[in-house]
Amino acid sequence: MDKMWSGRFSESSASLLDDFNASIMFDRRLYREDIEGSQAHAAMLHAQGILSTDELDAIHKGLSQVMSEIEAGDFEWKISDEDLHMGIEKRLTAIIGEVGGKLHTARSRNDQVAVDFRRYVVRKNREIAQLIKSLMEVVVDIASKHTETLIPGMTHLQHAQPTNFGFHMLAYASMFKRDIERFEESRKRINISPLGCAALAGTPHNIDRQMTADALGFDSVSINCLDTVSDRDFALEILFNISTMMMHISRLSEEIILWSSYEFGFVELSDAYSTGSSIMPQKKNPDVPELLRGKTGRVNGNLISLLTVMKGLPLAYNKDTQEDKEGVFDSIDTAELSLEILREALKTMTVKPENMESACQKGHLTATDLADYLVEHCGVPFRETHFISGKAVARAEIMGIDVSAMSFDELKKIDDRIKEDVMPFLALRNSMNARNSEGGTSTKRTLEQVELFKNYIKGLSI
Ligand code: ARG
Repeated sequence: MDKMWSGRFSESSASLLDDFNASIMFDRRLYREDIEGSQAHAAMLHAQGILSTDELDAIHKGLSQVMSEIEAGDFEWKISDEDLHMGIEKRLTAIIGEVGGKLHTARSRNDQVAVDFRRYVVRKNREIAQLIKSLMEVVVDIASKHTETLIPGMTHLQHAQPTNFGFHMLAYASMFKRDIERFEESRKRINISPLGCAALAGTPHNIDRQMTADALGFDSVSINCLDTVSDRDFALEILFNISTMMMHISRLSEEIILWSSYEFGFVELSDAYSTGSSIMPQKKNPDVPELLRGKTGRVNGNLISLLTVMKGLPLAYNKDTQEDKEGVFDSIDTAELSLEILREALKTMTVKPENMESACQKGHLTATDLADYLVEHCGVPFRETHFISGKAVARAEIMGIDVSAMSFDELKKIDDRIKEDVMPFLALRNSMNARNSEGGTSTKRTLEQVELFKNYIKGLSI
């Protein structure tokens, strides 16, 4: 009968219930947010004349001691305490006596857990954004070295048009920029104080919610207590931010896996970030990008799982909500580890420009240029030029060569409007540089984008 809520009970709880009901083994990671929240709450109760100075001093000292015990690994986390809120309060009362029981005046675990979790999520939103920034630095650095390295641009995983590898990497830099913005912009919806909402309806005590919000670094005080204690949008938001970011990482991983194959041979991961096979001695496997791709599935699961937990809950707090934490913790840990390992794997990856460039010699990457030439220089409508260029491709296939390697003599047999000045249009590098419209792949435009991303990174204050 040692439960804080056991007043109306005549029997002790079953140990099976304790195991099932407890969150202390995972919510203990919120101890810092919880103790800081309690310190701020106590200071406000004192300022409002609800706690005496002696009581406040005792509570402050006691909470500091609990914090030290936890950080020294001396704190005993007990399943029977149910959650960290009660575990900490119980220990506080053991240290300072009955006055510890006054801390919970004008507060409930319902607003307390929302305070702890929101502050944790705000902190992690920023830390993850910082990690994306450092990954982005590596991506932009690789891009800046390869603005002239030809690589086949693909659609449907088929050769499409020549691009450069820098341009390709900057596509990922663009995604990571949006990811950073998404994490940063979430802050304004998450960093709102629930403290003082109590169980669901507010409190009859004369509290000052703005004071605790300021002390805890919240940007504002929540509007409606009923919503505040039951809302978990903020947790869903970080889960969504992580899933989207991981989806980007997963697409890059997929490309690295393809590029590392013998068939592509575009890149080689360093030994430090590759693995071997237990049976096939020749193998060097891309386990890192494969795991990144796989873990993306897991974080997506966490998002769907919380959406599902929340969708049928009547207002206000329901214990189902306790299921919000493990998935969020898992997604956050996964995101942090993934961002770090991808950054290191990319930093140490060897790029093989010769193989990328020789791959450009197949697949008629400049067929569109032949059509564009006929539009620009011969005034032929694009639909017709498309057909003529298709015929050139068919002829090249029969000859077993690439369109870019066709002679003028062959080309003029296909359409006599084709003149000798067509030849530069079929050259791969010219084709890449011809796509010089804003945001395009030309080396000039790619360098512009490199500059833009470098400035973006430099200007970030996260
Ligand atoms: N451990 C609980 C959770 O994580 C804390 C809130 C409990 N509130 C309650 N009324 N049972 O959701």
